[in-house]
Amino acid sequence: MSQPPVYQQEWDQIYRQAYAQGRRHWRPEMATPPVFAEFLTSHDAPPAGSRILEAGCGDGLNAIHLAQRGYVVTGVDVSQAAIDRAREVATEHRCHVDFLCLDLVRDELPPPRDYDLWVDIKTLHVLWEDADRAAYLRRAVESLPPAASSS
Ligand SMILES: C[S@@+](CC[C@H](N)C(=O)[O-])C[C@H]1O[C@@H](n2cnc3c(N)ncnc32)[C@H](O)[C@@H]1O
Repeated sequence: MSQPPVYQQEWDQIYRQAYAQGRRHWRPEMATPPVFAEFLTSHDAPPAGSRILEAGCGDGLNAIHLAQRGYVVTGVDVSQAAIDRAREVATEHRCHVDFLCLDLVRDELPPPRDYDLWVDIKTLHVLWEDADRAAYLRRAVESLPPAASSS
């Protein structure tokens, strides 16, 4: 028997409340944290054109930032409200990102699952159970090339 989509309910409520208060983004200050910005300008950053999945992308600011740097970006979040806002913002920026509303604990990612980089900014730690974190990490491992997932 399938379990109720608890993450979806919880996070949709958070985003809907923020938007009902007139906020454009749930937490704009979380976009592009310094350590992430530093990584993107380092030698370890993947080349432009690489396929990046941002897991728990919220209303899309990091995903859009990545697309503006020339990456092919898929943003995934469990909240439909956040994904709807992310799509709006990407359109305003004339920027292409594939935004998907999925529960990364319970749902399979659609193929092709061939990403070069899995970006997680404050998402793994919001999953409550060890089993949920394990399921989420399995999705990441299955979506990355063997060298990236074992390094
Ligand atoms: C702390 S927020 C971080 C949002 C964004 N990464 C940022 O830095 O602004 C955690 C995000 O993870 C998403 N999330 C929580 N559980 C999820 C799940 N099971 N599958 C996909 N996304 C999930 C939430 O909707 C929320 O957008």
